[in-house]
Amino acid sequence: MTDTTRDVLQEHEFDGIQEYDNPTPGWWYLIFFATFVFSLWYFLYYHMSTISTPVAVEYQDATADDMKKRFAEIGDLKPDAATVVRFMNEPGWLQFGASIFKTNCVSCHAANGQGQVGPNLTDDAYKNVTKIDDIPQVIANGAANGAMPAWKTRMHPNEVVLVASYVASLRGKNLPGPRGAEGTVIPPWPAPPVEPKK
Ligand code: HEC
Repeated sequence: MTDTTRDVLQEHEFDGIQEYDNPTPGWWYLIFFATFVFSLWYFLYYHMSTISTPVAVEYQDATADDMKKRFAEIGDLKPDAATVVRFMNEPGWLQFGASIFKTNCVSCHAANGQGQVGPNLTDDAYKNVTKIDDIPQVIANGAANGAMPAWKTRMHPNEVVLVASYVASLRGKNLPGPRGAEGTVIPPWPAPPVEPKK
């Protein structure tokens, strides 16, 4: 028996194009209902239940794990002058410091450290820094009653040191900023240790 309702051309025609009026195929409905059931499960599992881990938390955990792995290579950094200077000269870690700066600091110190709400970090004048190891201290503890926030509760101690190295590396770029020089001009950073000749 042939289905006489299938593949019957409709009367109308537009620009030579005609159409049938066949029912939507079963497989199409199946996919449609499958997506519906999936979305219901997804909503209940990820957004309503307590047995699942939200994707954002999984991401944070993965980032923290990754950081632990990367930091295993360098151990626990001391926020002292030698360490800050050392990481100014390690391009990979300096890049890491730059990414911390991009995430947390540019809103006040501007994209390249030239200053905005906070002072210009690319010139030789500083308000709270007289020697290089003051930088991790200011970052960890903040300044001016929180106008410069304290980061020690929000960052791994290594991150404080690595972003300090990045900040120290900005000095001397002398980018023009909206605020001009603030504070006093301080002596140059200590020179990096001379590598023994191989
Ligand atoms: C909410 C705005 C804000 C954010 C975000 C911020 N800072 Fe600051 N920062 C300031 C202000 C304001 C000062 C100046 C404090 C003062 O007047 O003594 C400052 C000062 C500093 C100083 C000392 C500069 C000097 O001249 O003594 C350093 C170093 C510094 N910030 C680094 C950072 C780093 C690194 C980050 C990101 C981890 C950061 N800041 C994020 C506002 C901010």
